[in-house]
Amino acid sequence: MKKVIIAGANSFVASHFVHKLLSQDYHVVALVRGSSEASAVDRMQEALEDTTLDPVQDSGTLTVIDYTLLAPNFSLSEETIASIFEGHLDYYHFAASLKFDFRSKEEIFDTNINGLKNALNIFQKYASEKGRFFFISTAYSCGVYSDVFEEKFYPEADISQFRNYYEQSKRLAENALQEFMAEYPINAHVIRLSQVVGNSRSGVTRTSYGIFDFAKRVHALAQQYPNQKIRIHADPDATQNLISIDTVIADLMEVVATDEVPVIMNFVANHPMSNRQIIRSISDLTSVELVPEKDIQKEDMNELERMVLAGMAFTGNYIDTDIDFDTRQRDKVISPLHREVNESSVFAMLAYYLDNITEKSAVKSQQ
Ligand SMILES: NC(=O)c1ccc[n+]([C@@H]2O[C@H](COP(=O)([O-])OP(=O)(O)OC[C@H]3O[C@@H](n4cnc5c(N)ncnc54)[C@H](OP(=O)(O)O)[C@@H]3O)[C@@H](O)[C@H]2O)c1
Repeated sequence: MKKVIIAGANSFVASHFVHKLLSQDYHVVALVRGSSEASAVDRMQEALEDTTLDPVQDSGTLTVIDYTLLAPNFSLSEETIASIFEGHLDYYHFAASLKFDFRSKEEIFDTNINGLKNALNIFQKYASEKGRFFFISTAYSCGVYSDVFEEKFYPEADISQFRNYYEQSKRLAENALQEFMAEYPINAHVIRLSQVVGNSRSGVTRTSYGIFDFAKRVHALAQQYPNQKIRIHADPDATQNLISIDTVIADLMEVVATDEVPVIMNFVANHPMSNRQIIRSISDLTSVELVPEKDIQKEDMNELERMVLAGMAFTGNYIDTDIDFDTRQRDKVISPLHREVNESSVFAMLAYYLDNITEKSAVKSQQ
Protein backbone atom coordinates (compact mmCIF):
# COMPACT_ATOMS: atom_id res chain seq x y z
CA MET A 1 0.00 0.00 0.00
CA LYS A 2 1.46 3.36 -1.00
CA LYS A 3 1.86 5.91 1.76
CA VAL A 4 0.85 9.56 1.30
CA ILE A 5 2.01 12.05 3.91
CA ILE A 6 0.07 15.32 4.00
CA ALA A 7 1.13 18.40 5.95
CA GLY A 8 -1.87 20.63 6.68
CA ALA A 9 -4.17 17.64 6.09
CA ASN A 10 -7.14 19.36 7.77
CA SER A 11 -7.14 22.23 5.26
CA PHE A 12 -10.08 22.69 2.91
CA VAL A 13 -8.36 21.19 -0.14
CA ALA A 14 -6.30 18.55 1.66
CA SER A 15 -9.23 17.13 3.66
CA HIS A 16 -11.02 16.31 0.38
CA PHE A 17 -7.79 14.70 -0.85
CA VAL A 18 -7.48 12.64 2.35
CA HIS A 19 -11.06 11.46 1.93
CA LYS A 20 -10.41 10.29 -1.63
CA LEU A 21 -7.11 8.61 -0.80
CA LEU A 22 -8.71 6.65 2.03
CA SER A 23 -11.52 5.50 -0.24
CA GLN A 24 -8.87 4.07 -2.57
CA ASP A 25 -6.94 2.24 0.13
CA TYR A 26 -3.91 4.47 0.44
CA HIS A 27 -2.19 4.77 3.79
CA VAL A 28 -2.52 8.44 4.73
CA VAL A 29 -0.31 10.07 7.34
CA ALA A 30 -2.07 13.33 8.22
CA LEU A 31 0.10 15.99 9.84
CA VAL A 32 -2.23 18.31 11.75
CA ARG A 33 -1.55 20.63 14.63
CA GLY A 34 -3.58 20.10 17.77
CA SER A 35 -5.02 23.10 19.59
CA SER A 36 -5.99 23.80 23.20
CA GLU A 37 -9.62 23.07 22.24
CA ALA A 38 -9.18 19.97 20.11
CA SER A 39 -6.65 17.24 19.45
CA ALA A 40 -5.08 16.73 16.02
CA VAL A 41 -7.22 13.59 15.59
CA ASP A 42 -10.43 15.48 16.38
CA ARG A 43 -9.47 18.35 14.08
CA MET A 44 -8.83 15.93 11.21
CA GLN A 45 -12.13 14.19 11.87
CA GLU A 46 -13.95 17.52 11.94
CA ALA A 47 -12.35 18.54 8.62
CA LEU A 48 -13.41 15.25 7.01
CA GLU A 49 -16.97 15.75 8.26
CA ASP A 50 -16.91 19.34 7.01
CA THR A 51 -16.39 18.10 3.45
CA THR A 52 -19.98 16.74 3.73
CA LEU A 53 -18.78 13.71 1.74
CA ASP A 54 -20.07 10.30 2.87
CA PRO A 55 -17.88 8.69 5.52
CA VAL A 56 -15.39 6.31 3.91
CA GLN A 57 -16.25 2.63 4.29
CA ASP A 58 -13.48 -0.01 4.20
CA SER A 59 -10.97 2.76 4.17
CA GLY A 60 -7.21 2.61 3.86
CA THR A 61 -5.34 3.50 7.00
CA LEU A 62 -5.41 6.99 8.42
CA THR A 63 -2.70 7.94 10.91
CA VAL A 64 -3.03 11.43 12.37
CA ILE A 65 0.10 12.99 13.84
CA ASP A 66 0.19 16.17 15.91
CA TYR A 67 3.15 18.17 14.60
CA THR A 68 4.78 21.60 14.66
CA LEU A 69 5.47 22.86 11.15
CA LEU A 70 8.42 25.07 12.03
CA ALA A 71 10.15 22.89 14.62
CA PRO A 72 13.13 20.60 13.94
CA ASN A 73 11.78 17.17 12.97
CA PHE A 74 8.28 18.70 13.24
CA SER A 75 8.82 18.35 17.03
CA LEU A 76 8.53 14.57 16.70
CA SER A 77 10.93 12.01 18.12
CA GLU A 78 13.66 10.62 15.87
CA GLU A 79 11.93 7.26 15.93
CA THR A 80 8.50 8.63 14.96
CA ILE A 81 9.77 10.82 12.14
CA ALA A 82 11.90 8.01 10.73
CA SER A 83 8.95 5.63 10.70
CA ILE A 84 6.65 8.24 9.06
CA PHE A 85 9.08 8.71 6.17
CA GLU A 86 9.91 5.04 5.80
CA GLY A 87 8.98 3.21 2.57
CA HIS A 88 7.36 4.06 -0.75
CA LEU A 89 5.77 7.46 -0.33
CA ASP A 90 4.57 10.81 -1.63
CA TYR A 91 4.69 13.90 0.61
CA TYR A 92 2.20 16.75 -0.10
CA HIS A 93 2.83 20.12 1.52
CA PHE A 94 -0.49 21.99 1.89
CA ALA A 95 0.17 23.85 5.16
CA ALA A 96 0.15 27.58 4.52
CA SER A 97 -1.05 30.90 5.83
CA LEU A 98 -3.76 32.20 3.48
CA LYS A 99 -3.90 35.61 5.10
CA PHE A 100 -3.98 38.53 2.72
CA ASP A 101 -3.61 41.54 4.99
CA PHE A 102 -0.34 43.41 4.86
CA ARG A 103 0.10 43.40 8.66
CA SER A 104 0.49 39.60 8.69
CA LYS A 105 3.61 39.60 6.52
CA GLU A 106 5.81 37.96 9.14
CA GLU A 107 3.38 35.13 9.83
CA ILE A 108 2.77 34.57 6.10
CA PHE A 109 6.49 34.42 5.28
CA ASP A 110 7.34 32.27 8.27
CA THR A 111 4.63 29.71 7.56
CA ASN A 112 4.86 29.66 3.79
CA ILE A 113 8.61 29.92 3.25
CA ASN A 114 10.26 28.69 6.45
CA GLY A 115 7.61 26.00 6.89
CA LEU A 116 8.38 24.69 3.41
CA LYS A 117 12.16 24.84 3.97
CA ASN A 118 11.81 22.89 7.20
CA ALA A 119 9.71 20.23 5.46
CA LEU A 120 12.28 19.95 2.65
CA ASN A 121 15.09 19.39 5.17
CA ILE A 122 13.12 16.72 7.00
CA PHE A 123 12.14 15.02 3.74
CA GLN A 124 15.71 15.05 2.46
CA LYS A 125 16.96 13.55 5.72
CA TYR A 126 14.39 10.78 6.16
CA ALA A 127 12.70 9.89 2.85
CA SER A 128 14.18 7.28 0.55
CA GLU A 129 15.41 8.15 -2.96
CA LYS A 130 12.10 7.02 -4.43
CA GLY A 131 10.07 9.41 -2.29
CA ARG A 132 8.43 12.37 -4.02
CA PHE A 133 7.86 15.84 -2.55
CA PHE A 134 4.94 17.96 -3.79
CA PHE A 135 4.63 21.62 -2.85
CA ILE A 136 1.11 22.99 -3.23
CA SER A 137 1.52 26.53 -4.50
CA THR A 138 -0.81 29.02 -6.10
CA ALA A 139 -1.25 29.99 -9.74
CA TYR A 140 -1.21 33.56 -8.41
CA SER A 141 2.50 33.26 -7.61
CA CYS A 142 2.48 34.84 -11.09
CA GLY A 143 1.80 38.15 -9.31
CA VAL A 144 0.81 41.10 -11.46
CA TYR A 145 1.68 39.56 -14.78
CA SER A 146 0.32 40.13 -18.25
CA ASP A 147 2.16 37.45 -20.26
CA VAL A 148 1.35 33.73 -20.37
CA PHE A 149 2.32 32.23 -16.99
CA GLU A 150 4.32 29.14 -17.84
CA GLU A 151 5.02 26.01 -15.82
CA LYS A 152 8.54 27.04 -14.89
CA PHE A 153 10.33 28.86 -12.08
CA TYR A 154 10.28 32.66 -12.21
CA PRO A 155 12.82 34.98 -10.58
CA GLU A 156 12.25 36.66 -7.25
CA ALA A 157 10.51 40.01 -7.38
CA ASP A 158 9.61 42.68 -4.85
CA ILE A 159 6.16 43.24 -3.39
CA SER A 160 5.23 45.82 -6.05
CA GLN A 161 5.00 42.88 -8.49
CA PHE A 162 2.36 41.07 -6.38
CA ARG A 163 -1.14 41.78 -5.07
CA ASN A 164 -0.23 40.72 -1.52
CA TYR A 165 2.45 39.01 0.62
CA TYR A 166 0.70 35.65 0.23
CA GLU A 167 1.44 35.64 -3.51
CA GLN A 168 5.00 36.83 -2.95
CA SER A 169 5.60 34.22 -0.23
CA LYS A 170 4.53 31.46 -2.61
CA ARG A 171 6.91 32.73 -5.32
CA LEU A 172 9.75 32.83 -2.77
CA ALA A 173 8.84 29.36 -1.53
CA GLU A 174 8.90 27.99 -5.09
CA ASN A 175 12.36 29.51 -5.50
CA ALA A 176 13.52 28.01 -2.19
CA LEU A 177 12.41 24.63 -3.50
CA GLN A 178 14.30 25.19 -6.76
CA GLU A 179 17.48 26.05 -4.81
CA PHE A 180 17.03 23.00 -2.62
CA MET A 181 16.69 20.79 -5.71
CA ALA A 182 19.94 22.23 -7.07
CA GLU A 183 21.72 21.29 -3.86
CA TYR A 184 20.17 17.89 -3.12
CA PRO A 185 19.06 15.18 -5.54
CA ILE A 186 15.44 15.09 -4.41
CA ASN A 187 12.39 14.37 -6.51
CA ALA A 188 10.38 17.56 -5.92
CA HIS A 189 7.43 19.15 -7.71
CA VAL A 190 5.25 22.25 -7.60
CA ILE A 191 1.49 22.09 -8.15
CA ARG A 192 -0.09 25.51 -8.63
CA LEU A 193 -3.81 25.80 -7.94
CA SER A 194 -5.98 28.67 -9.12
CA GLN A 195 -9.14 29.55 -7.11
CA VAL A 196 -10.56 26.34 -5.71
CA VAL A 197 -14.35 26.50 -5.40
CA GLY A 198 -17.09 24.00 -4.48
CA ASN A 199 -18.20 20.69 -5.87
CA SER A 200 -19.21 21.04 -9.51
CA ARG A 201 -21.79 18.25 -9.28
CA SER A 202 -23.45 18.76 -5.91
CA GLY A 203 -22.87 22.51 -5.52
CA VAL A 204 -21.58 21.89 -1.96
CA THR A 205 -19.20 24.74 -1.19
CA ARG A 206 -17.03 24.77 1.92
CA THR A 207 -14.73 27.64 1.07
CA SER A 208 -15.38 31.29 1.71
CA TYR A 209 -12.66 33.06 -0.24
CA GLY A 210 -12.94 35.33 -3.28
CA ILE A 211 -16.31 35.38 -4.97
CA PHE A 212 -17.98 33.68 -2.00
CA ASP A 213 -16.76 36.29 0.44
CA PHE A 214 -18.01 38.96 -1.95
CA ALA A 215 -21.39 37.23 -2.34
CA LYS A 216 -21.70 37.06 1.47
CA ARG A 217 -21.15 40.80 1.79
CA VAL A 218 -23.65 41.60 -0.97
CA HIS A 219 -26.16 39.21 0.60
CA ALA A 220 -25.84 41.01 3.97
CA LEU A 221 -26.29 44.44 2.35
CA ALA A 222 -29.22 43.20 0.28
CA GLN A 223 -31.07 42.31 3.51
CA GLN A 224 -30.74 45.92 4.65
CA TYR A 225 -31.20 47.60 1.25
CA PRO A 226 -33.35 45.32 -0.91
CA ASN A 227 -34.26 45.95 -4.55
CA GLN A 228 -31.44 48.40 -5.20
CA LYS A 229 -29.37 48.74 -8.32
CA ILE A 230 -25.71 48.82 -7.28
CA ARG A 231 -22.88 49.67 -9.66
CA ILE A 232 -19.64 47.94 -8.79
CA HIS A 233 -16.13 48.67 -9.89
CA ALA A 234 -15.40 45.61 -12.05
CA ASP A 235 -14.57 44.92 -15.67
CA PRO A 236 -17.43 42.66 -16.82
CA ASP A 237 -15.14 40.97 -19.35
CA ALA A 238 -12.30 40.23 -16.92
CA THR A 239 -12.22 36.64 -15.70
CA GLN A 240 -11.86 34.50 -12.59
CA ASN A 241 -9.97 31.24 -12.92
CA LEU A 242 -12.13 28.85 -10.88
CA ILE A 243 -11.47 25.12 -10.45
CA SER A 244 -13.88 22.85 -8.64
CA ILE A 245 -12.69 20.87 -5.65
CA ASP A 246 -13.70 17.60 -7.35
CA THR A 247 -11.53 18.44 -10.37
CA VAL A 248 -8.54 19.30 -8.16
CA ILE A 249 -8.90 16.03 -6.27
CA ALA A 250 -9.29 13.97 -9.47
CA ASP A 251 -6.11 15.61 -10.79
CA LEU A 252 -4.18 14.99 -7.56
CA MET A 253 -5.25 11.34 -7.63
CA GLU A 254 -3.82 11.05 -11.14
CA VAL A 255 -0.55 12.51 -9.90
CA VAL A 256 -0.38 10.03 -7.01
CA ALA A 257 -0.90 7.16 -9.43
CA THR A 258 1.57 8.36 -12.09
CA ASP A 259 5.26 7.56 -11.68
CA GLU A 260 6.77 10.31 -13.83
CA VAL A 261 5.30 13.78 -13.46
CA PRO A 262 6.59 17.19 -14.56
CA VAL A 263 8.37 19.43 -12.05
CA ILE A 264 5.74 22.21 -12.26
CA MET A 265 2.08 21.93 -13.18
CA ASN A 266 -0.57 24.65 -13.34
CA PHE A 267 -3.83 23.15 -12.08
CA VAL A 268 -6.14 25.80 -13.52
CA ALA A 269 -9.36 26.01 -15.51
CA ASN A 270 -8.94 25.97 -19.28
CA HIS A 271 -11.86 28.37 -19.63
CA PRO A 272 -12.12 30.95 -16.88
CA MET A 273 -15.49 32.51 -15.99
CA SER A 274 -16.24 36.12 -16.82
CA ASN A 275 -17.11 38.58 -14.06
CA ARG A 276 -20.34 39.24 -15.96
CA GLN A 277 -21.48 35.64 -15.46
CA ILE A 278 -20.51 35.53 -11.79
CA ILE A 279 -22.07 38.89 -10.99
CA ARG A 280 -25.29 37.89 -12.75
CA SER A 281 -25.52 34.81 -10.50
CA ILE A 282 -24.95 36.87 -7.35
CA SER A 283 -27.65 39.34 -8.47
CA ASP A 284 -30.09 36.51 -9.16
CA LEU A 285 -29.49 35.07 -5.70
CA THR A 286 -29.84 38.31 -3.75
CA SER A 287 -32.45 41.01 -3.91
CA VAL A 288 -30.16 43.59 -5.53
CA GLU A 289 -29.08 44.16 -9.10
CA LEU A 290 -25.30 44.42 -9.40
CA VAL A 291 -24.04 46.28 -12.44
CA PRO A 292 -20.33 45.89 -13.25
CA GLU A 293 -18.72 49.04 -14.60
CA LYS A 294 -15.08 49.07 -15.52
CA ASP A 295 -14.42 52.77 -15.24
CA ILE A 296 -16.70 53.93 -12.46
CA GLN A 297 -14.94 56.23 -9.96
CA LYS A 298 -15.51 56.26 -6.21
CA GLU A 299 -16.52 59.96 -6.37
CA ASP A 300 -19.41 59.07 -8.68
CA MET A 301 -20.77 56.33 -6.44
CA ASN A 302 -23.67 56.64 -4.01
CA GLU A 303 -23.35 55.64 -0.36
CA LEU A 304 -24.47 52.06 -0.91
CA GLU A 305 -22.08 51.58 -3.81
CA ARG A 306 -19.22 52.85 -1.65
CA MET A 307 -20.17 50.34 1.05
CA VAL A 308 -19.90 47.54 -1.50
CA LEU A 309 -16.61 48.95 -2.74
CA ALA A 310 -15.18 48.92 0.81
CA GLY A 311 -16.10 45.25 1.11
CA MET A 312 -14.23 44.46 -2.08
CA ALA A 313 -10.80 45.15 -0.54
CA PHE A 314 -9.62 41.59 -1.16
CA THR A 315 -11.89 40.56 -4.02
CA GLY A 316 -11.14 43.89 -5.63
CA ASN A 317 -7.49 42.98 -6.08
CA TYR A 318 -8.52 40.01 -8.16
CA ILE A 319 -11.60 41.44 -9.80
CA ASP A 320 -9.89 42.72 -12.92
CA THR A 321 -7.49 39.84 -13.55
CA ASP A 322 -7.41 38.04 -16.87
CA ILE A 323 -4.37 35.78 -16.65
CA ASP A 324 -3.43 33.26 -19.28
CA PHE A 325 -1.94 30.09 -17.74
CA ASP A 326 0.09 27.60 -19.73
CA THR A 327 -0.87 23.96 -18.98
CA ARG A 328 1.23 21.95 -21.44
CA GLN A 329 3.17 20.19 -18.65
CA ARG A 330 -0.03 19.38 -16.74
CA ASP A 331 -1.63 18.03 -19.89
CA LYS A 332 1.15 15.43 -20.26
CA VAL A 333 -0.14 13.58 -17.21
CA ILE A 334 -3.68 14.72 -16.46
CA SER A 335 -6.44 13.28 -18.59
CA PRO A 336 -8.71 15.82 -20.28
CA LEU A 337 -11.70 15.32 -18.00
CA HIS A 338 -14.69 17.54 -18.32
CA ARG A 339 -13.01 19.97 -15.97
CA GLU A 340 -14.69 23.33 -16.32
CA VAL A 341 -17.03 25.00 -13.92
CA ASN A 342 -19.76 26.80 -15.85
CA GLU A 343 -22.37 29.41 -15.07
CA SER A 344 -24.88 26.88 -13.77
CA SER A 345 -22.38 25.08 -11.48
CA VAL A 346 -21.14 28.40 -10.06
CA PHE A 347 -24.77 29.45 -9.53
CA ALA A 348 -25.39 26.19 -7.61
CA MET A 349 -22.26 26.76 -5.49
CA LEU A 350 -23.22 30.35 -4.66
CA ALA A 351 -26.78 29.24 -3.84
CA TYR A 352 -25.50 26.50 -1.51
CA TYR A 353 -23.06 28.89 0.15
CA LEU A 354 -25.62 31.66 0.71
CA ASP A 355 -28.25 29.18 1.94
CA ASN A 356 -25.75 27.89 4.44
CA ILE A 357 -25.03 31.37 5.77
CA THR A 358 -28.75 32.03 6.12
CA GLU A 359 -29.24 28.73 7.96
CA LYS A 360 -26.32 29.41 10.29
CA SER A 361 -27.60 32.87 11.18
CA ALA A 362 -31.12 31.47 11.74
CA VAL A 363 -29.69 28.92 14.19
CA LYS A 364 -27.69 31.66 15.94
CA SER A 365 -30.75 33.87 16.35
CA GLN A 366 -32.69 30.94 17.90
CA GLN A 367 -29.95 30.35 20.48
N1 LIG B 1 -8.15 27.28 -1.51
C1 LIG B 1 -7.70 27.75 -2.66
O1 LIG B 1 -8.46 28.27 -3.49
C2 LIG B 1 -6.24 27.65 -3.01
C3 LIG B 1 -5.80 28.20 -4.20
C4 LIG B 1 -4.44 28.12 -4.53
C5 LIG B 1 -3.57 27.47 -3.69
N2 LIG B 1 -4.03 26.95 -2.53
C6 LIG B 1 -3.06 26.30 -1.64
O2 LIG B 1 -3.58 25.06 -1.19
C7 LIG B 1 -3.18 24.83 0.16
C8 LIG B 1 -4.42 24.57 0.99
O3 LIG B 1 -5.29 25.69 0.88
P1 LIG B 1 -6.70 25.69 1.67
O4 LIG B 1 -7.52 26.78 1.12
O5 LIG B 1 -7.23 24.33 1.69
O6 LIG B 1 -6.17 26.11 3.13
P2 LIG B 1 -6.93 26.30 4.51
O7 LIG B 1 -8.20 25.55 4.55
O8 LIG B 1 -6.93 27.74 4.86
O9 LIG B 1 -5.92 25.57 5.54
C9 LIG B 1 -4.62 26.02 5.75
C10 LIG B 1 -3.83 24.88 6.38
O10 LIG B 1 -2.54 25.34 6.71
C11 LIG B 1 -2.32 25.09 8.09
N3 LIG B 1 -1.46 26.10 8.71
C12 LIG B 1 -1.56 27.45 8.62
N4 LIG B 1 -0.61 28.01 9.40
C13 LIG B 1 0.08 26.99 9.97
C14 LIG B 1 1.19 26.92 10.86
N5 LIG B 1 1.80 28.03 11.33
N6 LIG B 1 1.62 25.70 11.25
C15 LIG B 1 1.03 24.59 10.80
N7 LIG B 1 -0.01 24.58 9.93
C16 LIG B 1 -0.46 25.77 9.53
C17 LIG B 1 -3.69 25.13 8.72
O11 LIG B 1 -3.64 24.48 9.97
P3 LIG B 1 -4.59 24.97 11.16
O12 LIG B 1 -5.96 24.49 10.81
O13 LIG B 1 -4.00 24.32 12.34
O14 LIG B 1 -4.50 26.48 11.20
C18 LIG B 1 -4.48 24.36 7.66
O15 LIG B 1 -4.24 22.98 7.76
C19 LIG B 1 -2.39 26.06 0.60
O16 LIG B 1 -1.02 25.80 0.45
C20 LIG B 1 -2.83 27.12 -0.39
O17 LIG B 1 -1.84 28.10 -0.58
C21 LIG B 1 -5.34 27.02 -2.15
